[in-house]
Amino acid sequence: MYRFSNTAYAVAVVLFASATTAHAQTDKLPLDPNAFVNQFEATFGKFEGARRSGAKGICAMGEFVGTADARSLSVSSAFSGKPVPVVVRFSVGGANLKAPDNSRTQRNLALQFDLPNGEQWMMGNISAPVFGAATPEQFFALLASRQPDPATKAPDPAKVKAFNDANPEVLLLPKYLASQPVPASFASVNYWGVHGFGFTNAAGVTQFGKWIFEPVAGVQGLSDEEAKAKGANFLFDDLRQRVKEGKVAFNFNLELAQPGDKIDSAITPLPEGRKKVNLGQLKLLSVSEDGGGACLNVTFNPMVMPKGVVASADPLLPARAAPYAVSLGRRLTEGSKQQ
Ligand code: HEM
Repeated sequence: MYRFSNTAYAVAVVLFASATTAHAQTDKLPLDPNAFVNQFEATFGKFEGARRSGAKGICAMGEFVGTADARSLSVSSAFSGKPVPVVVRFSVGGANLKAPDNSRTQRNLALQFDLPNGEQWMMGNISAPVFGAATPEQFFALLASRQPDPATKAPDPAKVKAFNDANPEVLLLPKYLASQPVPASFASVNYWGVHGFGFTNAAGVTQFGKWIFEPVAGVQGLSDEEAKAKGANFLFDDLRQRVKEGKVAFNFNLELAQPGDKIDSAITPLPEGRKKVNLGQLKLLSVSEDGGGACLNVTFNPMVMPKGVVASADPLLPARAAPYAVSLGRRLTEGSKQQ
């Protein structure tokens, strides 16, 4: 079924509005968003109807309750202490709708907080403390370096090596994922925001930090044998089961930056030991029984922030908005799907 929900429309409107914010920060986008999405397709293949990244996914609904500590950091209505409905999407990294669940790849947790008076807060979090590039230009060049050679249908090892040698920081993300076990569940892994954001309180003071969603029930990985036995498609049913049992919740925690900390780079975590504040808890209430649901046509554009939250100067942040909109446009015209 062709679904273009009110939410998707609202997203398009907000995207348009948020372009003003991006403009204010960057003068203009560094790269043509169509060229960016073309490069995703050239590198990873084109999967009709799917998101060009984080393709294989599932919608869920949740509820967030903020803490008094969060209220002292930000005036955002997300932290009022009253339950806030949240559209949730879990996904497996990559553009492939058939990506295997039992590999050491990225998992994603995307959220849309539906706040009072039509305000929204969107974010896409990943199961690693760092992203795979520092700037849009570096990310684009990374993707290009991995584009399969038409003759071999595989990336050219010489090109990959040359790029990696010149940009060793792009290996931080894949190295982290390779060092971790396959997550036992979408509900049993940490998800990092990786960007810095500022939280502004009633006194007008802005505290920057980086956030993590940490499973209340703890992190749990699979041994290689367990992962093999689970097969390529276990994450959706596992999530449905855990949510039915009322067992899925995440603490939304913020690591507070100190003066001098680098907060404008998605490849540089804050130094170890920074104070961590619990902003609240996200509880999962239901999971879609199929590939549809409220998340299907949402872009989770991280430039959609509520009053009381501001973006850092991380150049990747404003650069995400337009390619997400282009990807949405392509998948809508093809017929959106995520499974
Ligand atoms: C310029 C840099 C980036 C580009 C061009 C880019 C591109 C994309 C595109 C095209 C999509 C699919 C959007 C859709 O169809 O709705 C996507 C999804 C996603 N991206 Fe990025 N991305 C960038 C940076 C990042 C960073 C830094 C993160 C780290 C947090 C990230 C995390 C995600 C996640 C979690 C999703 C899936 C969200 C969902 O469930 O819909 N991306 N990205």
